[in-house]
Amino acid sequence: MSANLPEQPLWTDEDPVDAADLLRLDLAAVLACLDELGAAASVTLIRQHLAELLGALADPASQLHQPVAAPLEVGRNYLIGELHQIGAAHTLERARYYVARLHKSLTMVRTSAINDLNLNRWKEYDDILTDSLWVETRRDRSGGHTAGYWGNFIPQIPSQMMRRYTKPGEWVLDTFAGSGTTMLEGLRLGRNTLGVELQPGVAATTCARIAAAANPHAVAGQVVVGDSRTADWGALLDAHGARSAQLVLMHPPYHDIIKFSDDQRDLSNAASVEEFLEMLGQIAANVAPLLDRGRYLALVIGDKYAGGEWLPLGFWAMGAIQERGFTLKSIVVKNFEDTTGKRSQKELWRYRALVGGFYIFKHEYIFVLQKR
Ligand SMILES: C[S@@+](CC[C@H](N)C(=O)[O-])C[C@H]1O[C@@H](n2cnc3c(N)ncnc32)[C@H](O)[C@@H]1O
Repeated sequence: MSANLPEQPLWTDEDPVDAADLLRLDLAAVLACLDELGAAASVTLIRQHLAELLGALADPASQLHQPVAAPLEVGRNYLIGELHQIGAAHTLERARYYVARLHKSLTMVRTSAINDLNLNRWKEYDDILTDSLWVETRRDRSGGHTAGYWGNFIPQIPSQMMRRYTKPGEWVLDTFAGSGTTMLEGLRLGRNTLGVELQPGVAATTCARIAAAANPHAVAGQVVVGDSRTADWGALLDAHGARSAQLVLMHPPYHDIIKFSDDQRDLSNAASVEEFLEMLGQIAANVAPLLDRGRYLALVIGDKYAGGEWLPLGFWAMGAIQERGFTLKSIVVKNFEDTTGKRSQKELWRYRALVGGFYIFKHEYIFVLQKR
């Protein structure tokens, strides 16, 4: 520690208020405080101003918490973390750099071409996953979601994909709409969604669920009955005045692991793995022309076990999509817990695994591919 710095910091890492809070502050007042920090002549002075600022942030009655004109909405964790970083700087130059960076992050928005995440405030997106291993322990049951449809995916999957790979108001196509998890997330996030589902009964229930859900952003959330291999995706988009889509989600049957219907066009009724992959490839080829170049397709699928052999269905399916003009960007491995199985069945499988020399499926994949 250099000689001119106090031995004890003027603040502590313990945050007295709930860390998850979103703060609503007076932007002008916050910027004035930052200007004062930036103009301070020494690190010691900066730390004194910081202590006052942190005190004001912790006091709901302070002027900072009374937005007059433009309010500033900012994650408490993020703001406090940035202020601590300023205070921890060892040189005036470094502290001023952090002050300027915070000032910029609070006043300027920088986004990429494929989403609306503000890159100047990227530290605030704690809930956006960037690791390739997802261990989800709970299912999001809010927003009209139901766990009732056998073989649906957790809402976090379409939510994460839409937030990473689309901007609000863009178009998402789901080739296996099922119970409409994608559509419900689209309504919530302000993304337009179009889905095709083979089974009329399932589609009807899904349409009713979508119609009953809140639509705060007034976006489209439509499911039609059809075979995704031959569905006219262009016409579906056209009916809404849209010309192309910016994300495709595919959550096919994992071949015959769950039999969804007796319909021969259903991928779960494919006579062989080869036929399944061929059908999946046809769907990718049918939908790909409507996806903008450089945009993403997410394939959610697991492996299967047959004839005493682990079949890497997921990787084969990934290959079938790659062949249709897509570059692999990421493979996410996601856990799943079978909450429906009885304890006795689970024990039986564990016994079989020990006897048979195999491992029990506890994961599936999200393959993220980019259209060339
Ligand atoms: C794994 S589920 C998708 C579940 C969905 N992600 C959800 O959260 O509810 C697969 C769905 O694809 C449908 N399906 C199977 N073959 C199809 C095809 N050729 N075209 C459209 N849908 C198909 C099945 O009826 C089933 O509802």
